[in-house]
Amino acid sequence: MRRGIDIRVDDRVLSAEYRALREAVGWRSVEATDAVLQGALDRTWSATARDQEGRLVGLVRLQDDAVLYASVWDMIVRPDFQQQGIGTKLLETVLDRTRSRHLVSLVATPAGIRMYRNAGFTEESRGSIPLVWRPGE
Ligand SMILES: CC(C)(COP(=O)(O)OP(=O)(O)OC[C@H]1O[C@@H](n2cnc3c(N)ncnc32)[C@H](O)[C@@H]1OP(=O)(O)O)[C@@H](O)C(=O)NCCC(=O)NCCS
Repeated sequence: MRRGIDIRVDDRVLSAEYRALREAVGWRSVEATDAVLQGALDRTWSATARDQEGRLVGLVRLQDDAVLYASVWDMIVRPDFQQQGIGTKLLETVLDRTRSRHLVSLVATPAGIRMYRNAGFTEESRGSIPLVWRPGE
């Protein structure tokens, strides 16, 4: 992985830096107020990648009950820091922490599919299928 990048677990991500990271990869903006968004961020745990000035350059967030189930959200690496192993390192870091869960799930964008497959994620679901509902669409 690129030098000078600090990987942190349980790092608190502020709403403003979260918004900036989403914007950097072209994801739609979050309409919630900063206070509401901060509450959402604080109800998950994160692994982050920060540069030497402490700027957020990568993130992955986990919804996790700490025993049975965890799901991976918001895997984002700033474009100017991509292709340098940061996403893979973030993923390894959160998978180390969730290895004892019964099931870890995620929804992969095309950009992430290869990285997740390399880490052992598969479409195999033993006859079950993942379904999503997007309220408001
Ligand atoms: C998906 C995403 C997080 C991957 O982050 P990343 O830091 O670029 O990931 P990595 O560098 O670990 O791996 C990506 C590629 O870089 C390669 N790579 C890893 N370390 C490298 C290094 N030191 N030098 C050059 N390339 C490297 C990997 O082999 C991989 O290549 P591959 O696509 O041929 O398999 C990033 O593309 C992103 O933020 N995309 C937009 C948001 C998004 O769609 N996120 C996924 C949500 S599910």
